[in-house]
Amino acid sequence: PKLGILGSGSGSNCQSIYDAIQSGSLRAEIAVVMSDNPDAYILERARSWGIPAEVIDCGGFKTRFPEESQASVAARLKQYGVDCVCLAGFMRLVKLPLLKEFPSRILNIHPSLLPAFPGLHAWEQAVNAGAAESGCTVHYVDDGMDTGPILGQARVPVLPGDTPESLHARIQEQEHTLYPAMIARVLETLA
Ligand code: GRF
Repeated sequence: PKLGILGSGSGSNCQSIYDAIQSGSLRAEIAVVMSDNPDAYILERARSWGIPAEVIDCGGFKTRFPEESQASVAARLKQYGVDCVCLAGFMRLVKLPLLKEFPSRILNIHPSLLPAFPGLHAWEQAVNAGAAESGCTVHYVDDGMDTGPILGQARVPVLPGDTPESLHARIQEQEHTLYPAMIARVLETLA
């Protein structure tokens, strides 16, 4: 099966998916990596692997994901024969034009134990709230913000003296095993 990965930043989760494929623990192929941020390191990673890396044109909008952009991303993913779309640090909200082309085939990873702390800077929200634990969640994407059906979670403690950064690092370590494992599980259901 073919994956399309969408990200806006460093792409460490994309790296973990790639590594899981290379090691044989995830039977899939990354067909294309797309980013709304032309400078995102995730695109560099894809290029270094010889995987198509494409910039998403969002018409100059900083945070919006215009309908036309979503429709053209959907068309592009279809051209690549993508079966399952993985959001990996993608910072725009996916809506109907993309959702309807990939029903129950778009996944996201979020750095908290949803439904706690949806939205931006979830690790910082957890520290500020004085939470005793946090973690990460892989879920199907629906048209809400971090609201779709949950596939799996991994927990980490919040330790005394944690900063948002130290907690995020602990959470990311878990993300890197959870996401490839959950993708493998979803692909089995599609086979
Ligand atoms: C991760 O913490 C993920 O949970 C969140 O954005 C971050 C992306 O990191 N959605 P990376 O680009 O995969 O390194």
